[in-house]
Amino acid sequence: MRNNSVSLFAALHLPMLLLFAAAPLAGCDNTHTGTTLNFPGDANRGKTLIAEYGCGNCHLIPKVAGADGNVGPPLLHLANRVFIAGYVRNSPENMSVWLQDPQRILPGNAMPTMGISRKDSHDITAFLYSLE
Ligand code: HEC
Repeated sequence: MRNNSVSLFAALHLPMLLLFAAAPLAGCDNTHTGTTLNFPGDANRGKTLIAEYGCGNCHLIPKVAGADGNVGPPLLHLANRVFIAGYVRNSPENMSVWLQDPQRILPGNAMPTMGISRKDSHDITAFLYSLE
């Protein structure tokens, strides 16, 4: 009787487990092309904003003077990155949402929500996506 219920559990749940196990592999195609912004963004203004918000205290950021922080990951090759924070798919929309509220996307991570507006997040995203 006990064995029967175990195999019933396996019969019902194994396909689901396999589905979940396969999903990350299927997603690992590495063919992301993030360079096309789906919204208007001013990369030059974004670069200025990055300096103003002090992102460089925590991140190494190419082309931004003094941005050599080592609290978070270096912001290199972001246009070609597959995931943001190893968690959400990298797209301009997701990057913009991440910048506005990283704590909502990944609660408890070390990047603070800094009160960045939608407009500012778009301009910062435009700059970050210029880092190929
Ligand atoms: C107090 C430190 C801190 C500040 C300030 C900060 N970040 Fe972060 N940031 C982090 C940390 C830590 C992570 C990694 C989060 C994780 O992976 O869980 C991160 C992750 C990121 C990522 C994802 C990187 C990746 O490799 O996937 C981006 C993009 C990013 N930050 C951009 C910015 C920008 C732009 C600013 C300024 C508006 C900023 N950050 C300000 C600490 C910070």
